[in-house]
Amino acid sequence: MKLSYLKKFLYIALALFILLVIIISFFSINLPDYSQLKNYKPSIMTRVHNSSGELVKEYSNEYRVFIPIDAVPAIVKSAFISAEDKNFYRHIGVDLLGISRAFINNIKKAKFNGVLGINIGKNFDTPIDKAVEDYLTCFREAYCYAGYIAINVSSPNTKNLRNLQSDKYLEILLKALKSEQKILHKKFKKLVPFVVKISPDNSSKQLDSIAKLLLKYKVDGVIATNTTIDRKGILSSKYAMEEGGLSGAPLNKKSTNVIKHLNKCLNGKIPIIGVGGIITADDGIEKINNGASLIQIYTGLIFRGHRLVNELRKATR
Ligand SMILES: Cc1cc2nc3c(=O)[nH]c(=O)nc-3n(C[C@H](O)[C@H](O)[C@H](O)COP(=O)(O)O)c2cc1C
Repeated sequence: MKLSYLKKFLYIALALFILLVIIISFFSINLPDYSQLKNYKPSIMTRVHNSSGELVKEYSNEYRVFIPIDAVPAIVKSAFISAEDKNFYRHIGVDLLGISRAFINNIKKAKFNGVLGINIGKNFDTPIDKAVEDYLTCFREAYCYAGYIAINVSSPNTKNLRNLQSDKYLEILLKALKSEQKILHKKFKKLVPFVVKISPDNSSKQLDSIAKLLLKYKVDGVIATNTTIDRKGILSSKYAMEEGGLSGAPLNKKSTNVIKHLNKCLNGKIPIIGVGGIITADDGIEKINNGASLIQIYTGLIFRGHRLVNELRKATR
């Protein structure tokens, strides 16, 4: 009698254990395991979903990849919300610590020995004709701590920011940054490259003008692309009519087309960092085949975790 109770108890315990294993493995499928990133080749850039440099502090010892930090404005401002679907993000703001001492301290503490990109932008309330001052403030502060600096003139979430891609404003900005780069290079005896991050929503004519200026000012690289305001790829989604920059799969083709166009204009003189909707290894290879020298993942990393990094690593060997 006692033995059959014991048997029942053992069966129930076994069933509970199996249930627990199923629950744990379900969650571990969805969560990226950052500790696995340590072996990755430094040609795939991943992003940290944070503007404060805190994740760099936490994960820096594990990464051997490029880590770009999200846009950092000149001072602390604003809040951020993003809504998600299966394979895209709708990004409608930026969480901003600003290029403060706290931000720089987080980076210093990280003792990160890979290539760290710092993405800089203007404050949302800085008028467009004063934007250059915000970029210079961030550029000077970030210079000593960055492996490269990304100039964000393409986030659709900061009002008027994209106007900085127009001939008039882009020329002023590139001229100022190039001359500041020369001064800081001399001062710190260290050349920190800067790259310009552009939108996927520019016309071919606008892309031609941007490419001309990138060549004129010998910019070190271009990131193509940021998120899109185009909703064609998600018309059936409940988020289709909502505002914000769209990332992930629906952006893929658009960003590849921009890479292809830029590649023709730049003719290998300026490296292109391809980003936008890389969810599979094939997506990454397609960006490279169309002219990208480096590829960067954001939404793909969030949804597919380190598996995507591993697939890309194998595919790009
Ligand atoms: C939540 C979120 C935050 C982002 N923050 C920034 C940012 O601060 N600066 C920037 O230049 N791009 C930012 N981006 C754009 C991404 O870096 C990337 O260019 C874009 O999402 C396309 O790549 P993906 O499809 O792999 O996500 C952000 C995107 C998302 C979804």
